[in-house]
Amino acid sequence: MTKIITKHFDEPRLHELETYRKLGGYVALKKALSMKPAEIADEVKKSNLRGLGGAGFYAAVKWGTLPPLDKVPGPRYVVGNCDESEPGCFRDRVHVERAPHQVLEGLLIVSYAVGAGEAFIFIRGEYGRQHRVLRAAVEEARAAGLIGDKILGSPFSCNIMLMRGAGTYISGLDTALLESMEGKKSWPRQPPPFPTNFGLMGFPTVVHNVATLAMVPHIVANGGEWFAKIGTPKCGGTMLYSVSGHVEKPGVYELPMGATLRALLDAAGGVRKGRRLKAVIPGGTSTPPLGPEHLDLPLDFETVRAQGSGLGAGGVIVLDETADMVEVCRDIIGFLTHESCGQCTPCREGSAWTKRILERMLSGRGLPGDPANLERIAGNVTGKTICALGDTVGIVLKAYLTKFREEFRRLASPAGKQAQVCRDAVSKGATI
Ligand SMILES: Cc1cc2nc3c(=O)[nH]c(=O)nc-3n(C[C@H](O)[C@H](O)[C@H](O)COP(=O)(O)O)c2cc1C
Repeated sequence: MTKIITKHFDEPRLHELETYRKLGGYVALKKALSMKPAEIADEVKKSNLRGLGGAGFYAAVKWGTLPPLDKVPGPRYVVGNCDESEPGCFRDRVHVERAPHQVLEGLLIVSYAVGAGEAFIFIRGEYGRQHRVLRAAVEEARAAGLIGDKILGSPFSCNIMLMRGAGTYISGLDTALLESMEGKKSWPRQPPPFPTNFGLMGFPTVVHNVATLAMVPHIVANGGEWFAKIGTPKCGGTMLYSVSGHVEKPGVYELPMGATLRALLDAAGGVRKGRRLKAVIPGGTSTPPLGPEHLDLPLDFETVRAQGSGLGAGGVIVLDETADMVEVCRDIIGFLTHESCGQCTPCREGSAWTKRILERMLSGRGLPGDPANLERIAGNVTGKTICALGDTVGIVLKAYLTKFREEFRRLASPAGKQAQVCRDAVSKGATI
């Protein structure tokens, strides 16, 4: 299987500049600095590189929405998003720990391509070790003339600053992240304007996930067409997945865009203990689950979206036949309730109501009207909030209610109550 950004992940001391350079690191930066910024944007356009942070937006299209430098000559910024707080997602943590220079090289090339003289990496507050690794990498790169004034003797100067999040999931959303960077509470902004026009401190800002940034040196080194050929016609290159849950070998896997779900599960050693597959959450808990019928589905942004789900940030959670999908739904909604910033009433109240209903159902006190009530609340949240977190509450609820209707129905009846009471007793050690 083709690997691009994880190719050298097993190399000892890859996090150090010397090793990274021995393996060809920063050659692409040198090449990029000999190109015109527009030529880099052109290669990225040809590559069909998609943003790997969740939405799958074309990177070149995002850059294309920046105001032209001659019309808006002030500062502009690039931010590497390493906030990674969605359950099921841990690939960025492994990435920056193993190959921090690859992320820095990508950040520098993108900064050069879009005309930014200041770049940032916003890293999840809990990622203390990864922050230390990145900080050491920034210091090494600065000492080697790769960050700062006149990089590698070129006219391009760029500083890189690291910023730590304060422990909220919502600050991974680009507009909330910018608020947090400005020292404010990370409440999402209502776009438009989008960050490329009104970003950090009101200046044009490109926000990319760190994995997206890390792809760029490889595109510069090998050409956009090379990258495009690796993936599907609309999604170039590879996808980086975090695979967890009921698999034999949880971990980080890089597969070409369009590789099937089956190939990904095989790479992760298959469903644990030879059990039957029940569901797969493909992109982090905000994406609706797929089923065993999707095993041969090619994983790319369009194909997964057409199945009512999303590739998201590649946070794959595998669930075997033992999983209780109402419990899974309750855990996801519980997380969203905890992380709702509270700015929009439908999200703040809707998530909390649904969490309480799900908890009541799981405690054996379900009511016949619960599934319909949940569905009604879901419909009153999605599309009625500033950001996608609120949408997710409704989308996730509806998906689980539809796909696992019987499991919800059982808990919403007197028989369900009996079954739940027995189940609780068994889990506490009772024998029947
Ligand atoms: C609630 C929420 C949380 C998000 N968290 C992250 C995150 O932790 N990391 C990330 O790269 N993108 C996250 N995103 C997506 C970002 O808003 C943004 O689209 C992304 O950083 C752009 O990078 P890309 O072009 O590489 O995809 C989140 C979005 C939402 C709605």
